[in-house]
Amino acid sequence: MEKAKKIGILTSGGDCAGLNAVIRAVVNAASLRGWTVYGIRNGTDGLTESPREYEILTVENFSDTPWPRLSGSYLGSLNKGVKMESLAEMSRRFGEGVKELGLDAVIVVGGDGSMNITGNYCKGAGIKMIGIPKTIDNDTPITEFSVGFNSACQVCTTAIDSLELTARSHHRALICEVMGRDAGHLAMQSALAGQADVCLVPEIPYKIDNVIKKLKEIKASGRSHAVIVVSEGIKTEDGQHLSAAKNLIGEAVYGGVGQYLSAEINKRYGDFQTRVTTLGHVQRSGVPSSFDRLLAAMFGAEAVDLLARGESNKMVVWKDGKISAVSIEEVVKKGTTLLDVHSDYVKAARAIGMYVGEID
Ligand code: F6P
Repeated sequence: MEKAKKIGILTSGGDCAGLNAVIRAVVNAASLRGWTVYGIRNGTDGLTESPREYEILTVENFSDTPWPRLSGSYLGSLNKGVKMESLAEMSRRFGEGVKELGLDAVIVVGGDGSMNITGNYCKGAGIKMIGIPKTIDNDTPITEFSVGFNSACQVCTTAIDSLELTARSHHRALICEVMGRDAGHLAMQSALAGQADVCLVPEIPYKIDNVIKKLKEIKASGRSHAVIVVSEGIKTEDGQHLSAAKNLIGEAVYGGVGQYLSAEINKRYGDFQTRVTTLGHVQRSGVPSSFDRLLAAMFGAEAVDLLARGESNKMVVWKDGKISAVSIEEVVKKGTTLLDVHSDYVKAARAIGMYVGEID
């Protein structure tokens, strides 16, 4: 008979829609095997800080509550908030927490950064770990989709649709700044779905004069409104990142490039009034889409199955229409996955007349 296991689950990094569906899937799949699931609070903090913060999760926790259908994280999360103790010290504390709770393994729901950090903690402390990819940025390597991206895309697409309607009434060029950090997946896919006129992403250089050229073409065609989607991570024309603040580990928190673009367009061209909408954190809390819930169910089930088969140090992925798993080392080695400038998304955007910058 299979030995009953005690496993931990934690959500790490920026939250997104679908996390609770992942937790539910893991709890159900593990409980059906007779395992006990410890829900670790606030990312790795629940294990590294004293007193440890956790809750034993049961099927009942989720069967009779709306949680699995809601965004946010039932367990709480931690985004780039780890105090910079040495890796060895954090790994030691993490290991102590795991030992204190008597866990056989930990499931980490996170992006590439979390896979790197917790992967190192687990390696250092000899702990079994399985990763489940999630991020609205969709920049976790190898998996084609991470939980949360599709729902965030829907939030952005709905916003672009709304902006198009008011742009039409007031004959304006409305700028929509979306998240994504250094990756343009969210901007490009939502701009394409939302039928924007311009989409600027960090991976493709652009010229403001060419944005204006596009606006002039729109005007000449008889249309007097436009929608421009801009990824928060694009640089100014002179190569600067705009940043409003720094996070707890001193990284720039992007934001403000929409206002920069608006001011530059106004300086050089007077035929369209511009206004800026920065979508911000609402992108993380849309209704979990059916695709994200499917991924959540399949990733959660596979993560538990991998542990049951004695595997560890792997991240589940969605690739070529199938669920599989790859080693955490491979994920960390590949690093952040940027938008492929020759992808079908970019090709289609250009083919249907969107200005996306200059690809040589
Ligand atoms: O990584 C997800 C993400 O939402 C990015 O798109 C964004 O730049 C960042 O997190 C915002 O982080 P914070 O929640 O710390 O403001």
